[in-house]
Amino acid sequence: MSDRPDLSQALATARAIAEEAAVLALEGYRSDLQIQKKGEIDLLTDYDLRCEALIRARLADSFPKHAVVGEEGQDTGSGSLVWYVDPIDGTTNYAHGHPNFSVSIALYDGAVGLVGVVAAPALGVVWSAAKGMGALRNDVPCRVSRCDELTEALCATGFPYDRRTTEDDNLDEFHAFLKCTQGIRRGGSAAIDLAMVADGTFDAYWEQRLNPWDMCAGALLILEAGGRLSDYQGGPADPRTGRLVATNGRLHEAVVEVLGRARGEVESRPR
Ligand code: IPD
Ligand code: CA
Ligand code: CA
Repeated sequence: MSDRPDLSQALATARAIAEEAAVLALEGYRSDLQIQKKGEIDLLTDYDLRCEALIRARLADSFPKHAVVGEEGQDTGSGSLVWYVDPIDGTTNYAHGHPNFSVSIALYDGAVGLVGVVAAPALGVVWSAAKGMGALRNDVPCRVSRCDELTEALCATGFPYDRRTTEDDNLDEFHAFLKCTQGIRRGGSAAIDLAMVADGTFDAYWEQRLNPWDMCAGALLILEAGGRLSDYQGGPADPRTGRLVATNGRLHEAVVEVLGRARGEVESRPR
């Protein structure tokens, strides 16, 4: 068994680090950014790098024995206690001056989430959770929604950066949910999408080809807010891998079924 830290203290430290990075991100927001391309439509700003450097320095001070896996740097450390860091989740929004972006930080012990923070400074919202301690939205306890009809549900999803070249581009799934729900939002920050399932804004979310730093904090928020996670087949979820279905629990089976039918993995029901 790994040497888990005190979770209240780890959460307080993670919050302070995420909020410090969020202040830095807000300084750069709608400023004259230096923007590079990691891929045809995959952007990197100077503030992604600056925020990650700040978070890594603070984590190294507070948790020198823990490993760090961050989007914009080399993996460091070893062992089962790992911090997953997305310095700016929603970089496309950030680069265009759209307020839907976040700093996402999570501590996991293997596949078990211990601490998660999603800070969205331009929205003025911080979501946080620690294992067994519930989820908070701006320090107020939050829960998933009670919606139990897909036709009444507001859902969220995202599209992969290789969507110009892959056939598995989420459009069939998007089309299927557009026809059977109250609405779909593509917010551009997976961490915020998940946090908004946890606080009951969204009723369900699905996305694939994500990275652990996109999902780990939000996934813990969902579990602590009473929601449910799975893979696309309804099997156990591991937020360190690329596919996730996250719901309020009540809608989970219906969401997995629509996904399976849209992807041709489940036969359509006879009408
Ligand atoms: C992206 C966002 C987006 C999701 C992409 C992610 P980034 O992260 O979370 O919502 O659809 O799959 O890669 O690149 O802005 O950190
Ligand atoms: Ca991300
Ligand atoms: Ca990012």
